Amino acid sequence: MLKIGVLVSGGGTNLQAIMDAIDAQGIPAEIVSVVSSNPNAYALERAKNKGIEAVTMRKRDYADAKAYDLALAEHFKSRGVGLVVLAGFMTILGEDFVNAFENKIMNIHPALIPSFCGDGFYGLHVHEAVLEKGVKLTGATVHFVSPITDGGPIILQKAVEVMDDDTPEILQKRVMEQAEWKIFPEAIRLFAEGKLEVVGNKVRIKR
Ligand code: GAR
Repeated sequence: MLKIGVLVSGGGTNLQAIMDAIDAQGIPAEIVSVVSSNPNAYALERAKNKGIEAVTMRKRDYADAKAYDLALAEHFKSRGVGLVVLAGFMTILGEDFVNAFENKIMNIHPALIPSFCGDGFYGLHVHEAVLEKGVKLTGATVHFVSPITDGGPIILQKAVEVMDDDTPEILQKRVMEQAEWKIFPEAIRLFAEGKLEVVGNKVRIKR
């Protein structure tokens, strides 16, 4: 059974969707630890309600970024984690963490990569930029994490329509409902069933 570690910073609706899908779809995986960069994240309550270990680890409590990366990696390794899931994690991870879990870290990004991604594009800012540009389609992307922000191999994407009178909040909700909460559990299921193969910078899905 695949052991999953989850990193969160906020409300945790993606964490909730993943926990629900593991139960409802019988995904052969178990979330063993949820770590938040923010002690007030509601995601921590969601984990506790499920009886899952929920802890806070803040970058500022460590000597430097490398020490934080190594502590996070040690935390998950000690729990036998085989997949780390970034479910709304707003802290950039460095090479020490990424290399400790090569092609074993998944992130959800609320846009169609390579659009509206990279440094500064997170949370509502992404949807603000989408509306500012006036694109007609946006969406979400699940990808493996590499040392380049939002630059790792793409696993799944789903498009979502942008409406004329959208606000960033309305668009964020539509992207979550129509894309994020569907493709993130699906990508985790594919990983847990051994159906994802990384070839260079691409992901092949064995159907
Ligand atoms: C989600 O929309 C996720 O795609 C985004 O933050 C939100 C977290 O919501 N992630 C990023 O922007 C990462 N760069 P949640 O805490 O309710 O899952």
